[in-house]
Amino acid sequence: MPDWPAWLTALLFVTNLLSLATLYVVTRRMLKLRRRKKREFVFSSYPVRKVKLEDVAPCFRMTRYGPSPESEVRFIGGEGVVASLTDRESWIMAALAKGAKRIFEFGTCSGKTAHVFALNAAPDAEIHTLTLHPDDLAETKFGLGDDREHRDIAAAESSFETFFYNGLPTEKKVSQIFSDSKSYDEEPLRGSVDLVFIDGAHTRSYVESDTRKALNMLKEEGVIMWHDYKPEAPDVFAFLNDLSKTFPLVHIAETDLVMYRRVTPSRA
Ligand SMILES: C[S@@+](CC[C@H](N)C(=O)[O-])C[C@H]1O[C@@H](n2cnc3c(N)ncnc32)[C@H](O)[C@@H]1O
Repeated sequence: MPDWPAWLTALLFVTNLLSLATLYVVTRRMLKLRRRKKREFVFSSYPVRKVKLEDVAPCFRMTRYGPSPESEVRFIGGEGVVASLTDRESWIMAALAKGAKRIFEFGTCSGKTAHVFALNAAPDAEIHTLTLHPDDLAETKFGLGDDREHRDIAAAESSFETFFYNGLPTEKKVSQIFSDSKSYDEEPLRGSVDLVFIDGAHTRSYVESDTRKALNMLKEEGVIMWHDYKPEAPDVFAFLNDLSKTFPLVHIAETDLVMYRRVTPSRA
């Protein structure tokens, strides 16, 4: 211990104490704000306009017996599958896949949804699905403001090297891409994709970049779907709320899915 005067030691002690107290107060305040933000939408509706399933596509029209036969699909339940869609969400995605010739998925994970797309799409359809290889975690380019919790989740979910569809007849329709989504060059698919599913890294800079690429790949009359529109995925939630000010997005009732359909100007 250096031979400091007692007053200097006391001053250092008090300064440290004050710094710790400030840190404690700021952390508490931040946690409180975060909790409040999560609760904000519990009793009020979400900003993106909610629509009934019947308004999503003609195949979901209701009959006196319930959903029409055109909404029939093949799918596997989400029980026990990592980062899976709910059964209602899988049904919707599968029904939309029936009319699609080219599908692009950001975020393969187990590959269950890619398999479901392939099960339902036309025999000559192509399913392109992109994911981060577990050995390439260092290649991610998160932005400074990206949600910390979902940065960690993105890394944890990037654990698959083989997928649900491997060895199954659906495999021949699937083109597996291993890449960080920001590094992926979507130009060769420009204007050619009927259905894009955005379910990769759930952080602001990634969902923004994936959306830009999705819009570039999208065909006229094509559809983009985003998953995890909920306050618990704060970056996705805030991004879609902002985007809905300029794009006619809809939130499908009883799901975490948000949809955009590109309409040709003559039909708008
Ligand atoms: C929520 S899971 C996708 C679930 C899948 N769509 C399904 O329905 O089964 C998120 C996926 O995004 C992938 N991912 C996370 N960060 C990524 C990145 N930076 N680039 C590409 N893929 C990423 C993860 O590897 C994981 O496969």
